[in-house]
Amino acid sequence: MALGILWLGLALLGALQTHAQDSTPNLIPAPPLLLVPVEPDFQNEQFQGKWYFLGLAGNGFNKEKHRRMKMYIANYELNEDNSYNVTSTVAWNQTCHPSTKIFLPNLHLGQFNLGNIERYTGIQNYTSKVVTTDYNQFAILYFKKVHDNQEYIKVILYGRTKEVPSVPKAIFISFIKSLGLTDDHIIFPIPNDECMDK
Ligand SMILES: *[C@@H]1O[C@H](CO)[C@@H](O)[C@H](O)[C@H]1NC(C)=O
Ligand SMILES: *[C@@H]1O[C@H](CO)[C@@H](O)[C@H](O)[C@H]1NC(C)=O
Ligand SMILES: *[C@@H]1O[C@H](CO)[C@@H](O)[C@H](O)[C@H]1NC(C)=O
Repeated sequence: MALGILWLGLALLGALQTHAQDSTPNLIPAPPLLLVPVEPDFQNEQFQGKWYFLGLAGNGFNKEKHRRMKMYIANYELNEDNSYNVTSTVAWNQTCHPSTKIFLPNLHLGQFNLGNIERYTGIQNYTSKVVTTDYNQFAILYFKKVHDNQEYIKVILYGRTKEVPSVPKAIFISFIKSLGLTDDHIIFPIPNDECMDK
């Protein structure tokens, strides 16, 4: 029995090491932030409220690996200093787990930096940009995170309802492709009803 566990442990270690060798940075590189489009004349009050998380893509994501990802709600609450409290409520183990991040306004309109960054171990920089939105149907957000000196990019498609019209969805996909990402990097989360009325 004990030997069985040891073998299993060694096999796992071997797998991890192989993985570590394989995964030395072949991440698709982030473009210069300035080249990422931003919604002109961003209206932060109109952007407030509930958004459904309807699509995700990034150089650290894989369609197969993250196929179980569920839809959730992100609630954007504007503070007086023009920062947002962004509360995402995910369903896990049949319980709703809300977590709040603060996004501080950047010098550039429609661009934000993660607040209290020192609380997130390993994160050196975290910037987000509202690529485009019509405020009442959809939004596409771009995120760039520097974690342990690696640059991760992520794009989120938000909708005001659980379904987004085909045009914004097509824009989302072509924006992702413009970053050099492929269909394998795109995830459409599983619709569900848990924790949706938060
Ligand atoms: C945002 O979060 C802070 C800290 O938890 C809290 O003091 C503030 O009232 C919140 N703002 C809004 C608009 O809910
Ligand atoms: C899942 O939820 C149940 C009931 O709330 C709890 O007893 C259990 O510890 C939870 N499991 C995990 C892995 O958190
Ligand atoms: C984080 O990124 C922003 C925008 O590119 C930049 O202004 C800032 O200097 C960066 N901060 C760190 C700690 O790298």
